[in-house]
Amino acid sequence: MDNTGISQVAEKPLITCTKCNLHQTRIKMVNGEGNILSPVFLIGEAPGQNEDIAGLPFQGQAGSILNKLLSQTSLNRSDFYIDNIVKCRPILIRNNKKENRQPTAEEIELCRDNIEQTIATGKPKAIVAMGNVALKYLLDDRSKSITKMRGQFIWSDKYQCYVYPVFHPAAILRQFEYYNVTANDFARLKQFIDNNYALPKPATTVYTLVDTPELLNQRFYHMFKYKLERNYRICNTISME
Ligand code: URA
Repeated sequence: MDNTGISQVAEKPLITCTKCNLHQTRIKMVNGEGNILSPVFLIGEAPGQNEDIAGLPFQGQAGSILNKLLSQTSLNRSDFYIDNIVKCRPILIRNNKKENRQPTAEEIELCRDNIEQTIATGKPKAIVAMGNVALKYLLDDRSKSITKMRGQFIWSDKYQCYVYPVFHPAAILRQFEYYNVTANDFARLKQFIDNNYALPKPATTVYTLVDTPELLNQRFYHMFKYKLERNYRICNTISME
């Protein structure tokens, strides 16, 4: 609370929704987390299994990668508003088991009002689009690709702010080479914030990967570490070259 008596933290009111079929298979609807008045939003695709259980975005391994990217860059998760384009877990059933899948165009469309109202209320200075689904949605262009667009601040007339695409944390789990590039993209995001939301100069900072056994579960950690040892210098602290 500041001296005007206005709360500095504006939590978005929790809503429930039954517009699309995902409400029939969800455990919890995953509303956004954090201060809706935060100058920077982090927007992903849709909840997965862990988020469906917790009712919060970016838990589990994708959440751990996101947390690591933020903490490595001295950014606090609590300083951001974190949300997804689609609020309920899209699933497919394979071998009698629920698996995550991408949301369909119809599910995205039916969820549209929620994210649009959130952005209109929060009026962020930048929206970090994590992955292809968020990028295509926010730029309203299905031809855009995260591989080509990542790391660029793109002005959006519609939202009156920058859209800043980065690789999705879950993509890093599948393709470890994306970690360093994404760590650099988060370093640029930090420069943008430190510059009072003015565009940073081209990045010169290169973060090397940190060895983080606590980050990933054993299976992923061993896979990750094996690949890292072959390809990257592993260090215990973040170093800047
Ligand atoms: N992937 C997403 O896109 N969002 C989440 O909240 C978790 C995983």
